[in-house]
Amino acid sequence: MSSTFGRHLRVTVFGQSHGEAVGAVLDGFPAGMTVDREALMRMMRRRAPGQSALTTSRSEKDEPEFLSGILNGVTTGQPISLIIRNENQHSSDYGDGVDLLRPGHADYTGHVRFFGHEDWRGGGSFSGRLTAPVVAAGALCRQWLESEGVTVHAHISRLGPLTDDDIAQADAETLAGLESMRLPTLRAGLEEQMEREILDAAKAGDSVGGAVTCRVDGLPAGLGAPFFDSAESVLSQLLFSVPGIKAVGFGDGFAFAEKRGSEMNDAFRLREGKIVTATNHSGGINGGITNGMPLLFTCAVRPTPSIAMEQRTVSLRRMEETGISVRGRHDPCILPRVCPVIEAVTAIGLAEMWKERESCLRGS
Ligand SMILES: Cc1cc2nc3c(=O)[nH]c(=O)nc-3n(C[C@H](O)[C@H](O)[C@H](O)COP(=O)(O)O)c2cc1C
Repeated sequence: MSSTFGRHLRVTVFGQSHGEAVGAVLDGFPAGMTVDREALMRMMRRRAPGQSALTTSRSEKDEPEFLSGILNGVTTGQPISLIIRNENQHSSDYGDGVDLLRPGHADYTGHVRFFGHEDWRGGGSFSGRLTAPVVAAGALCRQWLESEGVTVHAHISRLGPLTDDDIAQADAETLAGLESMRLPTLRAGLEEQMEREILDAAKAGDSVGGAVTCRVDGLPAGLGAPFFDSAESVLSQLLFSVPGIKAVGFGDGFAFAEKRGSEMNDAFRLREGKIVTATNHSGGINGGITNGMPLLFTCAVRPTPSIAMEQRTVSLRRMEETGISVRGRHDPCILPRVCPVIEAVTAIGLAEMWKERESCLRGS
C-alpha cells in the first residue's frame, strides 16, 4: 500500500477523519514561488464542510499549518509539510466500532483490508476529510501552473436529472466566476434548480449524484507519455483516488463508442503559425500526450452513500441481516465540495508531468 503519488513531484497524504489531524507532504516542489495564501484559503473554503444546508454540518476551519518548505511566504524547494487539525469530530455518531455496514461505503472493505484494525471513526481513511490536505497541496501546484499560464476550472456538469452547458464554450470571465459559486454552474438559474434537487433528496432521507467536468487552458503540447504514464493514466489514478468518483471520460469519453472515425477525429489546422485542431473530441490528449488544446474530462460522482433512508445490511458483530438508517452529519450531495478537489488533483498530476518532461529535456 502507498499513500504517496508521483515520482518527480511526490505527494503523501496522512491522517484520518476523527484523528488529531490530516496532512500532506509535497516533495519536489520548485523553490522561489511566492505563495498566495488568500487564493489557497479560497480554494480550501470551497471544499470545507459546514458552509450551507447543501453540505454536512460538520464545521471545520480547514486552515493548513505549514511546518516546513515555506519561508517568509516563499517556497524553499525543500519538502513542504502541512497539517490541518480536526476540530469538530463527533465519533459517538459512529458507535464504538464497526457494526452495521453502510451500503455503498467502505466499512466492510476497510475492515477486511486492515484485518479489523482500521481507524473506523467517521469513515477513517475513506472519509472525504482526506481531501482537505490534497486541496492544500493541489492549490500550491495550481498556483505554480498559473505562473506558467495554465488555468484549471471545474463545474458541476450534471446533478441528478439536471445538466449544465458545455464548459468548452465558456469564456475566461465565466470560468473565473465559477470559483465564487456555491454550486459552480454555467447556465443562469441552474444553481437554484440544483439546490432544490439536493434539498429534496435530503428531505427524503436520500442523496443525489452527478458529474464534474474539468477544463485546463494554456497547457503546452508534449506533457505525458505513451503507455503506463499516459496523461490519461496519471490523471485517472489521481481522480479515482478521490472518494466517490466512479467513472472518468476524457474528451467525448463514452461517446467514442458509438461514432465513426470521420466524426471523432480532430482535424489539424494552422492558426498564426501554431498547430491546433478544429474540434476537440479527444479532450486535448493524443497517444497519452497533451496536444496543446484545452484538456477536458468528466468524472461521474456517486450519490453520497450515507443516507437516512432505511436500507438492508449486515451486523458484523451479530453476523445477521438487519436494517440501517445512517445518522450523523453527511453531505446530501458531495458535488459542490468535489469541484475544488478535482481541480487540486488535476493540478498535482499536471505538475508531476511538467517536472517529468523537464527532467527528460536535461537528460537527467
Ligand atoms: C469531499 C467529500 C465529502 C464526502 N462526504 C461524504 C459524506 O458526508 N458521507 C458519505 O457517506 N460519504 C461521503 N463522501 C464519499 C465517501 O467518502 C465515499 O463514497 C466512500 O469512501 C466510498 O468510496 P467510493 O465511493 O469511492 O467507493 C465524500 C467524499 C468527498 C470527496
